[in-house]
Amino acid sequence: MSMKEKVLEVRDLRVTFNTPLGPLAAVRGVDLDVYGGEMVAVVGESGSGKSVSFLAAMGLLPRTATVEGSVVLQGEQLVGAAPKKLRSVRGRLMSMIFQDPLSALNPVHKIGAQISEMLRAHQSMSEKAALARAVDLLEIVGIPQPGDRAQQYPHEFSGGMRQRVVIAMAIANSPKLLIADEPTTALDVTVQAQILEVIQRVQAQFGTAVVLITHDLGVVARVCERVNVMYAGRVVERANIMDVFDQPTHPYTRGLLASLPQTGVERLVPINGFPPNMLKPPSGCAFRPRCTHATDACGASLPELQPVGDSMSACIRAREVMAKA
Ligand SMILES: Nc1ncnc2c1ncn2[C@@H]1O[C@H](COP(=O)(O)OP(=O)(O)OP(=O)(O)O)[C@@H](O)[C@H]1O
Ligand SMILES: [Mg+2]
Repeated sequence: MSMKEKVLEVRDLRVTFNTPLGPLAAVRGVDLDVYGGEMVAVVGESGSGKSVSFLAAMGLLPRTATVEGSVVLQGEQLVGAAPKKLRSVRGRLMSMIFQDPLSALNPVHKIGAQISEMLRAHQSMSEKAALARAVDLLEIVGIPQPGDRAQQYPHEFSGGMRQRVVIAMAIANSPKLLIADEPTTALDVTVQAQILEVIQRVQAQFGTAVVLITHDLGVVARVCERVNVMYAGRVVERANIMDVFDQPTHPYTRGLLASLPQTGVERLVPINGFPPNMLKPPSGCAFRPRCTHATDACGASLPELQPVGDSMSACIRAREVMAKA
């Protein structure tokens, strides 16, 4: 697949949860593209709507969620699609891996059987062929003695090995797109690096496009070319990773960088305060209450992404903010 081919196109995605306290606007108009074979990052604080955006795309949100807008995966509209269609898309065209690998594995089934099942759910294959392929997949994600390991149960695997198994399941049917939602947060630092390597290897070997969801701009810097920074249910900056580090255009991005150790941007002020209550988001720019650059104009309307230099920024004061750096 060529790098320029668009795999996923998200437009004006909105997710509202019906909660006992009223409607909670978790995702408030997200636009996002993923191109064939690329690894693109989605970063932002806890609660910014990273997971919910992609759970919405996968059709995995509870009934309390109202999803609006458009998510087109390889030409197919997923918002409002029938459950049957979504089941066929999941695992085959698009897979998601989560922070906690145990939740994705069934404790009472052998590892090999679980991967085979994933294969046979989408392809007509004999049990024997599927198990052989499962062993291949375990080898691809770096499990030693994959033949023996396929006969074991999840509790016999370490955390890092379980996450490798989850990756093997996610790529079993060669999806075009892999959503990795904080795939390394539950793991220790050394294992984190290994899991990222596995994901990179899969991306390179199979041309799988990867969306890496993370809090950690340091991780992003190592593996992604493009970054979407989310705040309060919106993308507030979209840029190449180099530009994010050299010339952040949004005060929130600058704050994220400042909270990174050893970036050489100590002069930036880390972010004070808390993310907004999404039951009552502030008018205009949601970052305004925490922003040292905010003016009255920032409260007037919800800022849209605009080109600033080579980046896209949702800050109406981006040029002033950058000039003060
Ligand atoms: N099932 C749900 N019902 C109601 N509100 C929800 C539900 N799931 C998520 N939310 C809310 O939606 C908002 C976005 O949550 P989301 O899980 O997408 O955040 P996130 O950016 O992935 O954060 P984290 O980095 O902590 O994973 C939050 O305010 C959260 O409380
Ligand atoms: Mg999340």
